[in-house]
Amino acid sequence: MQRNRRIPLMHLLLCVMSACWTALEKYKEYEKSVRIEEIDGAKLVKNVAQNMEEIFRKKAEATRRLVEAAEEAHLQHEENPDLQYEYFNAVLINEVDEDGNSVELGGEFLLEPNDHFNNLSVNLSLSVVQVPTNMYNKDPDIVNGVYWSEALNKVFVDNFKRDPTLIWQYFGSAKGFFRQYPGVKWHPDEHGVIAFDCRNRKWYIQAATSPKDVVILVDVSGSMKGLRLTIARQTVASILDTLGDDDFFNIIAYNQEIHYVEPCLNGTLVQADSTNKDHFKEHLDKLFAKGIGLLGNALTEAFTILNEINQTGRGSSCSQAIMLITDGATAMYDDVFAKYNWPERKVRIFPYLIGRESAFADNLKWMACANKGL
Ligand SMILES: *[C@@H]1O[C@H](CO)[C@@H](O)[C@H](O)[C@H]1NC(C)=O
Ligand SMILES: *[C@@H]1O[C@H](CO)[C@@H](O)[C@H](O)[C@H]1NC(C)=O
Ligand SMILES: *[C@@H]1O[C@H](CO)[C@@H](O)[C@H](O)[C@H]1NC(C)=O
Ligand SMILES: *[C@@H]1O[C@H](CO)[C@@H](O)[C@H](O)[C@H]1NC(C)=O
Repeated sequence: MQRNRRIPLMHLLLCVMSACWTALEKYKEYEKSVRIEEIDGAKLVKNVAQNMEEIFRKKAEATRRLVEAAEEAHLQHEENPDLQYEYFNAVLINEVDEDGNSVELGGEFLLEPNDHFNNLSVNLSLSVVQVPTNMYNKDPDIVNGVYWSEALNKVFVDNFKRDPTLIWQYFGSAKGFFRQYPGVKWHPDEHGVIAFDCRNRKWYIQAATSPKDVVILVDVSGSMKGLRLTIARQTVASILDTLGDDDFFNIIAYNQEIHYVEPCLNGTLVQADSTNKDHFKEHLDKLFAKGIGLLGNALTEAFTILNEINQTGRGSSCSQAIMLITDGATAMYDDVFAKYNWPERKVRIFPYLIGRESAFADNLKWMACANKGL
């Protein structure tokens, strides 16, 4: 018999309380009669990590199949403003009028309780469509969208067969309708209203605003002293607030030198999750203004990082931007743009002018126009 003297890492994490030690004592009694295999904590964690990876991989695959089917169906579809189409509306299914006839967009929809879906009554072969109460559910845009997106039903079913751990699958359209699988009946609130609009949900917004790589350049030359620097800090913080988990960023302060706000993250971009954003926000307080601002070097650095990130695929692999916070630019830096950003202009430049020096403002405006920023 093998004796396990080491406490597995997972147990260590879970067993901080004394009750747990009692359990361990009991466990020792059984030890004599039970064969115990050595458990390696690190290995255990690795297995958990592998399982997690597998779960996420499957979910990503299911999503990819949906995206492909949606793109294909949308491509094949020709918009028809007069299209008439009866679909299963999530609110109207199984509703009848005074005479007992199904209402329009309703119809008989078989539902069965299913414990995988919290015992809700669902239909595993069809999805339903929800339209917010404030929109017309027979609007031609909606009817067309609902019509072509029927193609998703077979992908929903197929995904669920391949990965029974999947729960809800859905498709949120920019037109405002929401297709949900498995089909389920929706009930309006006490005012007869369903306010849910998929376009206001976090997952929709994140997907719709495409991921971006952003380098924020903050002018910390002498002219930014005082109120301007305070405003600059606030501006950076509010730019950070608009970034989401799918975005990558870094912040560079510049005068005659380049200072990464977080020197440990020199030359790279980090994910814009809340931990990183909070961490960078704390560093903003340490900025102070002095010297002269050499924007050319800062721009060169920003273009270099963005370029490298794109080459190595570590960023968002989508759109790229430079946010420039300054009280003015004394030149146009067309040589830098010519070298790094023209003619494709893939990196957009968004200047935030602080103060009112109009001559310098013109340079900034020109930069933005010349780099697709306005
Ligand atoms: C889903 O509803 C449709 C329409 O009522 C019905 O034909 C189908 O059999 C139902 N599927 C399941 C799995 O209940
Ligand atoms: C679903 O209902 C069954 C039987 O009615 C019950 O045993 C089970 O715990 C329920 N599951 C959930 C998730 O509520
Ligand atoms: C970035 O780090 C490298 C080496 O780690 C150093 O040589 C370089 O000066 C740093 N650059 C900036 C701008 O801090
Ligand atoms: C990133 O690199 C790819 C391949 O070289 C290129 O097609 C794409 O336009 C680049 N994206 C940006 C934002 O520079």
